[in-house]
Amino acid sequence: MPTPHHTEISRREFVAATALVGTSLLAGIPNTILAQNSSSPAAEPARVRRYALVGVGARYSIYRDAILETYSGHAKLVALCDNNAGRLALARRKVRQKSGSDVPGFSASDFDRMIQETRPDIVIVTTKDSTHHTYLIRAMELGCDVITEKPMTTDAEKCRAILEASQRTGKKIIVTFNYRYSPPRTQVKELLMNGVIGDVLSVDFHWLLDTHHGADYFRRWHSQKAESGGLLVHKSTHHFDLINWWLSASPMSVQATGKREFYTPAMARRLGLQSHHERCHTCPEAAKCSFHLDLAGNPKLRELYLEQESHDGYFRDRCVFRPDIDIEDTMNVSVRYNTGATLAYSLNAFNGWEGYHIAFNGTKGRLEHGVQEQVSISGDGSVPGALKPEATYIRIFPLRAPAYAVPVQEGVGGHGGGDRIMLDDIFSPVPTTDKFMRASDERAGAASILTGIAANEAIRTGRTVEIANLVPGLTRPDYPSMPGSNEPVPMPPR
Ligand SMILES: NC(=O)c1ccc[n+]([C@@H]2O[C@H](COP(=O)([O-])OP(=O)(O)OC[C@H]3O[C@@H](n4cnc5c(N)ncnc54)[C@H](O)[C@@H]3O)[C@@H](O)[C@H]2O)c1
Repeated sequence: MPTPHHTEISRREFVAATALVGTSLLAGIPNTILAQNSSSPAAEPARVRRYALVGVGARYSIYRDAILETYSGHAKLVALCDNNAGRLALARRKVRQKSGSDVPGFSASDFDRMIQETRPDIVIVTTKDSTHHTYLIRAMELGCDVITEKPMTTDAEKCRAILEASQRTGKKIIVTFNYRYSPPRTQVKELLMNGVIGDVLSVDFHWLLDTHHGADYFRRWHSQKAESGGLLVHKSTHHFDLINWWLSASPMSVQATGKREFYTPAMARRLGLQSHHERCHTCPEAAKCSFHLDLAGNPKLRELYLEQESHDGYFRDRCVFRPDIDIEDTMNVSVRYNTGATLAYSLNAFNGWEGYHIAFNGTKGRLEHGVQEQVSISGDGSVPGALKPEATYIRIFPLRAPAYAVPVQEGVGGHGGGDRIMLDDIFSPVPTTDKFMRASDERAGAASILTGIAANEAIRTGRTVEIANLVPGLTRPDYPSMPGSNEPVPMPPR
């Protein structure tokens, strides 16, 4: 394949342009975790970067709007690509409405031609998970850096291929772990970095999905492991990445159990339905089923999915109780890290509320943190992962001393406020620094998915799975330094 002629962005420039941002602490208690541009006054004016977007479903719009609106002074959208011709045409119309300009659209089979004709510096990949590797690898081979949505990919073989291509081409990958940027989660990192509870020996982490958002995974392509890696990859990549980053640690070995007992044909009958059905749009029992999703009744879902079905036959509203689903709804995972820390993790997809609670057990005390999220359905216009401020907490329990609550920095917008701050990081025109090192590359992308991929393997075989057997020679991502396990610990009061 010919290499397109376009201006190179160096590794240093790319990484620097994607590292954030100053924060501050008062006496160990975070008071602001929001992004502030800490660029040097001597920095040269940044040149305009050219972006192509691949995969124009629900998620791509945050990147589109960042390029066309918030960061338009130094970002240019040069191409769109998707394998659904109808969604591609819709995306082009939206871009025209927003910017007044036409951006060319390319079918998936014309990806190489797109790169050659439109010369993007950076390709942003927001296709379904199982296809990320195709575009990441090809874009790097054609001379582009890449930004990918999580999970970086869905299995060990594709992960190895992505890491190999990144090494071979010298091109850079950013994996967009927006959760790291959510202010309360950054606060937790800061408290742990400051040694408030000493070094962390074990973690209990329990994530709950409710029967709105949780059920939604069982309707879409996510319900097939071959497409999404299952929830332990698709969803838990966020959670395992948070743990890796919070602890500055690498996962070593994984044990797991998993089952599907709620989103089943039997449960449809226990809920009073006669049976499962193919999809909501044509469901004969729609009036009786509170899991019914009305694609036709929601303008955003209708134009994005229902009106585009004729192009690829994809149904966004398949029955959550159908038998061919092969992902779990109840998962328990146990992980051992290189620091010696251990993790007990669970993910459950049919709960009465959405969010999580987590406890870090350290040599100087315990940190408890919890979040409740607002109800959301992907792509229907609701804000995904928005926090309920009144139900978000951080509490410290020092050994033999009074517990106290840490005032929580509110995160506003998608994914606990993480989306907005992360976009600033990604599209910032000038090099910035971030003591939390939230920008993530392919090493962090791999470390997070491999815990879930190992858990899938452990569920299948009943064995403990060593991460190094899935992808040998993994390089540890860059993380901030943490309290060491050899440092003195103050004797607790009597
Ligand atoms: N970071 C987050 O919090 C977050 C939130 C939502 C989604 N995501 C991620 O964003 C990505 C997209 O999710 P979504 O909700 O927009 O899904 P979606 O189903 O709405 O959109 C996926 C798009 O990819 C296209 N596509 C599928 N296969 C393709 C192929 N082979 N080539 C080109 N295009 C193809 C589809 O036509 C569709 O337009 C996923 O990887 C998902 O995990 C991340």
